Amino acid sequence: MAPRPLRLTSRRPPRKLLFILLLILGPICIIGVFTYRQKISYFFRPIWDRPPPPFQHLPHYYAENVSMDYLCRLHGWSLRSEPRRVFDGIIFSNELDMLEIRWKELHPYVTKFVILEANTTFTGIPKPLYFAENRDRYAFAENKIFHGIFPGRIASYGSHEDPFKLEAEHRIAMNGLLRRAGISVGDLLIMSDTDEIPSPHTVKLLQWCDGVPPVLHLELRHYMYSFEFPVDYSSWRATTHIYSQWTQYRHSRQTDVILSDAGWHCSFCFRYLKEFVFKMTAYSHADRVRHRDFLKYSRIQNLICRGDDLFDMLPEEYSFKDLIKKMGSIPRSASAVHIPAYLIENAEKFKFLLPGGCVRSPG
Ligand SMILES: *[C@@H]1O[C@H](CO)[C@@H](O)[C@H](O)[C@H]1NC(C)=O
Ligand SMILES: *[C@@H]1O[C@H](CO)[C@@H](O)[C@H](O)[C@H]1NC(C)=O
Repeated sequence: MAPRPLRLTSRRPPRKLLFILLLILGPICIIGVFTYRQKISYFFRPIWDRPPPPFQHLPHYYAENVSMDYLCRLHGWSLRSEPRRVFDGIIFSNELDMLEIRWKELHPYVTKFVILEANTTFTGIPKPLYFAENRDRYAFAENKIFHGIFPGRIASYGSHEDPFKLEAEHRIAMNGLLRRAGISVGDLLIMSDTDEIPSPHTVKLLQWCDGVPPVLHLELRHYMYSFEFPVDYSSWRATTHIYSQWTQYRHSRQTDVILSDAGWHCSFCFRYLKEFVFKMTAYSHADRVRHRDFLKYSRIQNLICRGDDLFDMLPEEYSFKDLIKKMGSIPRSASAVHIPAYLIENAEKFKFLLPGGCVRSPG
């Protein structure tokens, strides 16, 4: 055993000094805890919250110009004699640009675009029917659109409408809308938010192959504000279903299998600053908008260009390792490869979603 080094000196600070320090630092710590209470509780989330059970990741194969028959067989499936009909069901808020990109990408494969929009927000504030008012913009898909309006409730002053309950009611209304749109057993149904866009070749694969799992999550590349800020591959809520009489429209964990790298999820990918503000107040997580300053255009613009969090909160992560890795800004990417083709074909129109395009106009 190695001998311990001898401690030659032991100098302690005088007691009086310690006492004074405590007197000064104590109140500062208490004030800090109050100010950052929300942040601190998020930071300790890994202790009190369990991660969702892990997914089984299905390998996903794709290259241009490979035959459908070969692709189906690579996945362990077989080619159908004819493609499944595809129904794309979304609950729409105000993502007008993402809607255009979504429908342009999926148009060749989709039978009916089923879109439900409410005349109030999830937080009970009256809202314009953004889709109905801008329907002309989607004339290219007109013969495939099946639009429904959800009559929302206005929250009375001071009352707290539970946004998650309202969201659940939307999903029930969606079941009825899909049936009225003519969905039937065996069709492929996409359940996702407007900004969760399956890649076209993924939809084509699932509509042309027999043997695909009846319920399948889609792993999407997650972006924030634009395709310039790729976050990770964490987006998993979108699903595809081979429709059966028991299928229920949902946006939560439904099965253990997930198809890898199946598309894009672009959060807060808005053209105008006013759209950011609308989404921040209408969002299910409206409790995150804590101060009026949060909604200032100049603040939002700065955060967008830095890739910082609009809500000034720590990312919601389940392990300290992930949490620490993700604190701070999202690194900027100069790649515009493997993004929706319609964006590249209309690069001028969608400049704000491409590298170098972070500056937004108020709207
Ligand atoms: C694509 O496939 C066709 C027919 O199989 C072939 O003639 C053509 O050369 C292929 N193109 C590319 C770019 O590989
Ligand atoms: C929403 O639509 C329903 C049904 O058309 C209507 O009764 C209600 O007044 C509307 N609410 C708002 C806020 O416009």
